[in-house]
Amino acid sequence: MSDDSRPAPAAAARTAAVIPAAGRGVRLGPGAPKALRSLGGTPMLIHAVRAMAASRAVSLVVVVAPPDGAAEVKSLLDAHALPGGTPSGSWGRTDFAVVPGGESRQESVRLGLEALPPGYDIVLVHDAARPLVPVDTVDAVIEAVRDGAPAVVPALPLADTVKQVEPAAVPGDPEPVVATPERARLRAVQTPQGFDRAALVRAHETVTGDVTDDASMVEQLGLAVVVVPGHEEAFKVTRPLDLVLAEAVLARRRLNDGF
Ligand code: C5P
Repeated sequence: MSDDSRPAPAAAARTAAVIPAAGRGVRLGPGAPKALRSLGGTPMLIHAVRAMAASRAVSLVVVVAPPDGAAEVKSLLDAHALPGGTPSGSWGRTDFAVVPGGESRQESVRLGLEALPPGYDIVLVHDAARPLVPVDTVDAVIEAVRDGAPAVVPALPLADTVKQVEPAAVPGDPEPVVATPERARLRAVQTPQGFDRAALVRAHETVTGDVTDDASMVEQLGLAVVVVPGHEEAFKVTRPLDLVLAEAVLARRRLNDGF
């Protein structure tokens, strides 16, 4: 066997990030699509792209834009390129591409995956709605995929006890409790979730039911999914109060960075 025919070492696997950003974010109230809402004067999506590009391992970011907003999102990314100016479609060592999204998050992720060129063996899927995830969390997820896990999710223990209920037919009516899962064994899952690309592609080809995260699709294939520690700053901006918290986190970072 010649040296050239050996598989590349795992550490050389290239990593791309897919950012689904096509949701309207109705729970946040009326206004622009959620990913385009401002946080500290910068659109949430730009924070999310920067969070992925902050990892030295990530060399491509594919943003999945609202179906009618791909051109606007592309201009936005160009406008926020690193100081010094880089060619359109690139932020320094990180390339980016924009594709239009779909009706569901799942469809948006699939469209992003289809846009990935060959050569990227590790794929991160990261919600635009989690703009403040620290780079150490991103790197920990990539590291665990490099170590051989087909799917990796960052997650945190729960503060609240969780009840499983029989949902009420009329919102606001009392709901019977069916079960109380043991809190110590539960984790609240965040993004970026990291995948062996082939496993994620197969999951999207095979699993048709509605899911709220990508790792559960890989789970349904019977493949191992592992959890690594998440971070409290990787919370999802869903409701108006989350915007207040995100602004506070940004203000604290600016203070710590000496701005
Ligand atoms: O609705 P939810 O908060 O779970 O959305 C998570 C992420 O999925 C958001 O970043 C949102 O923009 C994205 N999404 C998408 N396409 C959809 C619905 C949601 O890209 N059709």
